[in-house]
Amino acid sequence: MLQTLAVANYRSLHELVVPMTRLNLVTGDNGSGKSNLYRALRLLAQTARNGVASALAGEGGLASALWAGPERISRRMVMGEVPVQGTARSEPVSLRLGFSAEDFGYAIDLGLPVASASMFDRDPQIKCESLWAGPFLRAGNVLVERRGSVVRRRAGRGWEVVEEHLSSFDSVFGQLADPQRMPEVLALREYIRRWRFHDHFRSDAAAPARQPCMAIRTPVLSDDGHDLAAAWQTIIEIGDEAGLQGSLDDAFPGARVLIEGWDGRLSLKFQQPGLLRPLAASELSDGTLRYLLLIAALYTPRPPPLMVLNEPETSLHPDLLPALARLIIKASARSQLWVVSHASRLIAALQEDPACNAIRLHKEFSQTRVLGMGNLDAPAWYWPQR
Ligand SMILES: Nc1ncnc2c1ncn2[C@@H]1O[C@H](COP(=O)(O)OP(=O)(O)OP(=O)(O)O)[C@@H](O)[C@H]1O
Ligand SMILES: [Mg+2]
Repeated sequence: MLQTLAVANYRSLHELVVPMTRLNLVTGDNGSGKSNLYRALRLLAQTARNGVASALAGEGGLASALWAGPERISRRMVMGEVPVQGTARSEPVSLRLGFSAEDFGYAIDLGLPVASASMFDRDPQIKCESLWAGPFLRAGNVLVERRGSVVRRRAGRGWEVVEEHLSSFDSVFGQLADPQRMPEVLALREYIRRWRFHDHFRSDAAAPARQPCMAIRTPVLSDDGHDLAAAWQTIIEIGDEAGLQGSLDDAFPGARVLIEGWDGRLSLKFQQPGLLRPLAASELSDGTLRYLLLIAALYTPRPPPLMVLNEPETSLHPDLLPALARLIIKASARSQLWVVSHASRLIAALQEDPACNAIRLHKEFSQTRVLGMGNLDAPAWYWPQR
């Protein structure tokens, strides 16, 4: 389970260290930085697919993703006594992302290239990465360290250089995650790759979830939900069928989902009390379809270590939100959950769970902060040095 998420200089997240528990709920006003934090977590997940540099480039490059405020915010700037001004930088440009679990952690530091003649001169470069054992980085617990193009790994009391020419856009999780040479890197990469993000399932008339799908066992619902019927049937056959029915009944009392198969394909039908025939997926309301997608995602028979739900309340009627909260709370027994939400009823219902870690974001002088958390309350965190 993740215990700490840390971000520096990414958009409005100038310096943010967030403690995490099994069930994390991120809330805050418009523009407070909820989506930025979500995107930071996604970028971190991209490192394990060796795509962080290109994902950042896709966001408009470092120039756009980097904190647009001054390196240091003085008290006098906040009081309005002096204008907000960038002074000469004392440190290099550095966008940093990291997390730690109970007994290991990882951080990455991205910066600008040193002047070169390349046409790719504005691509972000990976300046350093660190993998450690323990809840936060210390000099003594580093397992693997990357500085520039050199990667070293702890070997007994000393260090072994594993690679001297790693490209600036390749993370250690790229070529080096090899079971013989770097088992710890491979293990961490596989762990991060199992994080799952569910972000706004489509429910429009042409949504893939409204179409029949191939009859293939589907323990993990796809991002676009096209395999909803297969995922639902997989839960019935190898997952928690009773829980699935219970959660469906909680949201839609008396309703049944029927999976029909023909010719190697499956389709989903929805039997509502009071109707003579079940409705096809193509006839369901947006909210009903989206709710079914959420149930299928959360009852996955292959629970990931971390599941992230971005505004799951979209297009759901407020009356459905307490049931959604119960569904999420049940899922948090199987996976660590990170939920970003705007909806007051969902927020209130999730907070009824004593285990819920409510992270209320707000902006202080344009930088995102956690409400009620002073610098001293933040978990211990140290960034690797370049
Ligand atoms: N490079 C940057 N530097 C500093 N702040 C930035 C930068 N890019 C974006 N922001 C700030 O981030 C804010 C947007 O944050 P975000 O999208 O995370 O908000 P949100 O909490 O998801 O809001 P909403 O509820 O409206 O979706 C903007 O208001 C802007 O002030
Ligand atoms: Mg947002």
